[in-house]
Amino acid sequence: MTNHKLVVRDLSVTMGKKQILNHVNFEVEDGEFLSILGPSGCGKTTILRILIGLLAPKTGTVHKDGVDITKASPSQRGMGIVFQNYALFENMTVLRNVEYALRLNKETKRQARQIAMEMLRHVGLEEHANKKPGKLSGGQQQRVAIARTLALHPDIILFDEPMSALDVDTRMTLRQELKDLQKTFKTTMIYITHDQEEAFAMSDRIMVMDEGVIVQIDTPENIIRNPADDYVRDFVIRNIQLKIDSLSRFAAVPEEGTGAVE
Ligand SMILES: Nc1ncnc2c1ncn2[C@@H]1O[C@H](COP(=O)(O)OP(=O)(O)O)[C@@H](O)[C@H]1O
Ligand SMILES: [Mg+2]
Repeated sequence: MTNHKLVVRDLSVTMGKKQILNHVNFEVEDGEFLSILGPSGCGKTTILRILIGLLAPKTGTVHKDGVDITKASPSQRGMGIVFQNYALFENMTVLRNVEYALRLNKETKRQARQIAMEMLRHVGLEEHANKKPGKLSGGQQQRVAIARTLALHPDIILFDEPMSALDVDTRMTLRQELKDLQKTFKTTMIYITHDQEEAFAMSDRIMVMDEGVIVQIDTPENIIRNPADDYVRDFVIRNIQLKIDSLSRFAAVPEEGTGAVE
């Protein structure tokens, strides 16, 4: 198990009579960008809560760098998390938000301000350091949350639909910024989304889920070429195709004399 960053074996979770996760198995490689793609309610957040240590699975194990962390506390796991709703402290400045956890840690306490400012530089928010989060746009607030997480140098960052509340332009920009940050910090990233296009644009591999099971886990290219079943064909490929089709009608070359193009 030592060659993988993360090894998840046979995770099952039930709540009441409902099977939320059903024998989930996967590995994540060091430095990989893995998306977990599936419709609302299929169990994505439940996997994330188990990985970060907020939920104990009924059965199954999680190994990180070859060490069994299934029962480790969240703070022992070296993982960070970024949520859809940013989860910033509204009464603290942007800088204070990023400093906060650094100040609680003996090793980073004395350099907290310096590290925090450097992280804000990485996400292009230096000049907003002394503002309250409420004064920033959604995209900027999410950048603060990302800076706050990166400042602790986790070796894995989990994202739970971090762009769902943002407008399209911001999402496009943030996608690229996130990929650049991953290159800079060499962080393994696990990215939950229900947006097919986002998963295809960003991921090294995509894990397609449906109702508590993994239907397929592979590179975007292989999923397109060789979808595992009709569900992947419908939910993943057909959806992307529909988006492309709806755009392509605008790309048609206008006929002469329509006056559409000068
Ligand atoms: N605390 C809970 N109690 C009961 N059911 C839950 C709880 N948390 C999640 N569920 C159910 O588990 C399923 C998977 O939820 P979740 O992992 O949040 O899905 P996703 O993130 O893919 O939308 C859903 O049917 C949800 O209603
Ligand atoms: Mg969720």
